[in-house]
Amino acid sequence: MKKYTYVEPRRAVGDEDRENLLIDFPEIDLIGDPELRKLSIEAWCFALSCSDFRRIIDIPPEGNPGQTRLQVGTQADHLRGVVRLSAALAKEFSTAWPQVVIDHDILMAGAVCHDVGKPYEFDPENRARWKADGSRTGDPTFRHSVFGMHVCLKVGLPVEVAHIAVGHSFEGLQMGVSSECLIVRQADHDWWQLAGALGLVTPETMSTRPANVRARLLKK
Ligand SMILES: [Fe+2]
Repeated sequence: MKKYTYVEPRRAVGDEDRENLLIDFPEIDLIGDPELRKLSIEAWCFALSCSDFRRIIDIPPEGNPGQTRLQVGTQADHLRGVVRLSAALAKEFSTAWPQVVIDHDILMAGAVCHDVGKPYEFDPENRARWKADGSRTGDPTFRHSVFGMHVCLKVGLPVEVAHIAVGHSFEGLQMGVSSECLIVRQADHDWWQLAGALGLVTPETMSTRPANVRARLLKK
């Protein structure tokens, strides 16, 4: 009989998972709306439970699997930086122009959840299955942006947040993106590009380095 693959939790989510998430990712508290904050925590805990990773600091510190790898720090440092950078970009424009409309809670929930599909795309078991015969499974079956959209919808986050997850990466070039999605895209891409230019990324993993970037060495 043909065997199909399903995405299911590999373990139950407990309070310890939620506590560890907030320790690793305190910027979740920047989501003002309590329901959005709670659902964003559930999204990360659900995504992690469908993988072999227990915490976000266990996910390899890479933009995509095997690419743009931080030589210092963790995946949590990237996520935290993108949330803070998104908030800073939004603050700059809304302070300079009071007429500008930005939904802060959607922006923060979207920034928190933009990479929520990474536990799935980076999971070693999934990667081994895709490597074994990508012609059957796809390789990957879903990129983290697409799986992240699924996670957001699954836990009941609004479509505006799911849209940011799917639109923050390459997929966002194939659709019109919301203003909040564009801010997270900019923050995410700028974060990796600047991390690369400032010497935080392992040089040989910088696959999408712009031709004009010259990576600086870190202080000893
Ligand atoms: Fe990211």
